Amino acid sequence: MEPIKIALTKGRTEQQVRPLLEASGIDCQGLRNKGRKLIFDDDPRYEFILVKAPDVLTYLNNGTVQVGIVGSDILDEQVNFQYAMLNLSVGKCRFVLASTADFDPQQQRRKIIATKYPNITKRYFDGIGEDVEIIKIEGSVELAPLTGLADAIVDIVETGNTLRENHLKVYARLQPVNTKLVVNRLALRQYRSQIKTLITNLQAADQKAA
Ligand code: PRP
Ligand code: MG
Repeated sequence: MEPIKIALTKGRTEQQVRPLLEASGIDCQGLRNKGRKLIFDDDPRYEFILVKAPDVLTYLNNGTVQVGIVGSDILDEQVNFQYAMLNLSVGKCRFVLASTADFDPQQQRRKIIATKYPNITKRYFDGIGEDVEIIKIEGSVELAPLTGLADAIVDIVETGNTLRENHLKVYARLQPVNTKLVVNRLALRQYRSQIKTLITNLQAADQKAA
């Protein structure tokens, strides 16, 4: 049988999900000592590729992989055609609107908001009937209100350490984020029983760990 190809988000997600994969009986020897390698096929049933979060959807949409493991932030940000089949209890965090202590949410001037997530940001401000200017940033978003690039940011908070250490405050709590397993629609039909096995085992491991 051909292995199922799985795009796994590099970094935090990969580190949090690997113990669940192992607990569900998947050989992750290579992922444990990965060095600079990007493809792992220690377990003959699966081939893992390590990719940046937004690229998970590119590989999935293209059909290059059958399964993706990615944060719901990425799914919420992009219009996507995958089925989210499983919610994992790892990677739990939340979108917030944050800024410096002197930020005035009622300010008269049109706000400038910096974010890695322009669609999520636009949806939030549309929802409260406010027109804002959005500046797309690639990382270290917390710098934007500190340097004067923007009035505030929309970003993800996990422990709150980054906000605290940069003296930023939360002004609004937006939607929560968690890690999800998503499946390509066509693959769901072609690899039905293999994908079902993967999901059942992973779900059991996740429930035990949670
Ligand atoms: C993420 C996020 C916040 C931080 C939140 O950034 O954008 O900055 O983590 O985590 P905390 O609440 O536990 O501090 P990341 O470290 O992924 O880097 P980047 O924003 O530069 O991409
Ligand atoms: Mg950050």
